[in-house]
Amino acid sequence: MAKALLDRLSELKKEKKAVILAHNYQIGEVQDAADYVGDSFELSKIAADTKAEVIVFCGVHFMAESAKILAPEKTVILPENMAGCPLADMALPEKVREKKEEFPDAAVACYINTSAAVKAECDVCVTSANAVKIIDSYPAKEFLFVPDQNLAHFISTNVDKKIIPWEGYCITHHRVTREEVKRARKAIPDTVLMVHPECKPEVVEQADEVLGTGGMLKYAKESQDSKFIIGTELGLIYRLKKESPEKDFYLLSADMICPNMKLTNLQKVINSLESMTPEIEIPEDIRVKAKVCLDRMLEYS
Ligand code: 13P
Repeated sequence: MAKALLDRLSELKKEKKAVILAHNYQIGEVQDAADYVGDSFELSKIAADTKAEVIVFCGVHFMAESAKILAPEKTVILPENMAGCPLADMALPEKVREKKEEFPDAAVACYINTSAAVKAECDVCVTSANAVKIIDSYPAKEFLFVPDQNLAHFISTNVDKKIIPWEGYCITHHRVTREEVKRARKAIPDTVLMVHPECKPEVVEQADEVLGTGGMLKYAKESQDSKFIIGTELGLIYRLKKESPEKDFYLLSADMICPNMKLTNLQKVINSLESMTPEIEIPEDIRVKAKVCLDRMLEYS
């Protein structure tokens, strides 16, 4: 069954000149079938540079949109139309415009977890892999940061600049509490605790390392340690185990599952390539403005 699906996928990829990109949170069979698996930043760079004619983005909507913003001449397909990001939905472009009026001297930085319409309102985009570096080097002293309040807080503790946070959060990361960290540390002693900067400050403060998903993979591979508690979405554990099979990885909280990231499977990837739907489309005026903000991210990273 799996072999038949993989053979069909390989036929379709050749026929359509397609590349399959998968985020680190995707289920195992999708990660295994993808040409590239990565974090938001790595995948946006691959989308910008690929020679393929079709990008099948196995992730959530804002990720596929970012690929389309950067590579407008390509057909970008999101195999599961319902795969959204509640965090990205917490910022609407009209609300961002209102906030900009309130803080006219602030530059506007957005997390990549935003819609194209919100990116079009912002000066520079960041991901968890480059947020501190970009905010530190971007020529402004004050930033309105949209939409993740926890990442905004993490940045503010690492740069000497004023960060005005938006009140959004990632449901999957924000629900983890200080008490859960204490319980996990007690249950699995002598481990390295790595958490994503989308976790609350009370969780981040107790971590040994605060990293995006790509940073966690690199750290685990290079570390002399052999046991890690992972404070991010479940899907990353699959890749961590695959790349460092001799090490042990424990999910910080059993609730750290993003239902949207679990909507895509191999059959849906095949269906989407057969029908070439659902295709990502962005009005050109919005795409052009949003591209400025993503291009600046690539420039400052
Ligand atoms: P990364 O860029 O660290 O992969 O994170 C993406 C994301 O959406 C986290 O919830």
